[in-house]
Amino acid sequence: MKIFLTGGNGDLGQMLCTSLIGMGHTPVIFDIAVPQHPPNRTDRPGIPGIPVAEFIEGSILNREQLRAALKDIDIVVHIAAWHGIHEFRKEKTVYDFWDLNVGGTFNVFQCAIENDIKDIIFISSTSIDERYGVYGHSKILGEEVASAYAHRHGMNVITLRPRAFIPPWNKSVYSNFIEWCEWFSKGAVHISDVSQAVLKSVDLLASKNHDLQNAPAFLTVDGAYQYSDEDLKNWDVDGPGSTFKRHYAQFYDLAVGLGLNTTLKPKKLDITETQRLLNYKPLYSMKTMLLELKKYGPAGPYQDRPL
Ligand SMILES: NC(=O)c1ccc[n+]([C@@H]2O[C@H](COP(=O)([O-])OP(=O)(O)OC[C@H]3O[C@@H](n4cnc5c(N)ncnc54)[C@H](O)[C@@H]3O)[C@@H](O)[C@H]2O)c1
Repeated sequence: MKIFLTGGNGDLGQMLCTSLIGMGHTPVIFDIAVPQHPPNRTDRPGIPGIPVAEFIEGSILNREQLRAALKDIDIVVHIAAWHGIHEFRKEKTVYDFWDLNVGGTFNVFQCAIENDIKDIIFISSTSIDERYGVYGHSKILGEEVASAYAHRHGMNVITLRPRAFIPPWNKSVYSNFIEWCEWFSKGAVHISDVSQAVLKSVDLLASKNHDLQNAPAFLTVDGAYQYSDEDLKNWDVDGPGSTFKRHYAQFYDLAVGLGLNTTLKPKKLDITETQRLLNYKPLYSMKTMLLELKKYGPAGPYQDRPL
């Protein structure tokens, strides 16, 4: 199938491309930025019979470009947006957020329906909880557009709400792996699990075996945890760091030695509906992180990643 990825050259899009190709799909990257390290491109056609990614340089703000690019597409994954980090760092204005996240999302849904495309995965965010923030508000309005198009046109829409997932190899945000681990310890989802949720959404839409028509899904995407709800309720009752120590005794000295805060109580989100509808099973947990830390040290496991 041809899977159209708006903002496909970003962190999530790049990860999805590789997996989609592996699944036999043809990802079509639609982005204002040209990929530096595309998995495969039309100018490097690869092996006959093996699907490759296509790249179309274009903006979702340009309706003509977008409409033309959406020809012969089966499923759209709408990723392109300015997000939390751009608001936090004041890199984008309220106008930028409105134009891309609200207007751009409207363009994607409208141009999709003009091309008879009914299947869309919309990447929203748990930041919808910050309804008066610039980013949160823009995602609420994006979800509103998605919902209206699902009901008005009988589209099959899966709205995924991941919590923050900027990957450790994104050096513009995390200068080293320890910084990323500090952030991850607060409760988070790894980008590979967000990718898993998108791929399972693609599978569900492709199967046509669902009840999504006129009933769009809104699904929270969180990571995996060793901590039970009971652990979180009785956090550190036996002293600071005791809950961490009970689960990760073998990593305790390493974590303390590297300056990680073992008393941090992570916030765990309810993903019951995501598990039910998509059979989503997050794999990356604090334990995975600690294993990587032990094996690779502060430099982290992603040294060779071409980003
Ligand atoms: N990264 C996170 O922590 C996080 C958390 C929750 C939700 N999200 C959501 O995930 C999605 C993106 O995640 P990411 O981490 O891959 O972001 P990213 O910033 O790495 O990628 C976004 C891509 O969108 C492209 N883009 C910008 N303007 C465009 C336009 N006009 N037309 C086409 N493409 C354009 C950019 O060039 C970039 O490649 C967004 O919808 C964001 O709101 C992100």
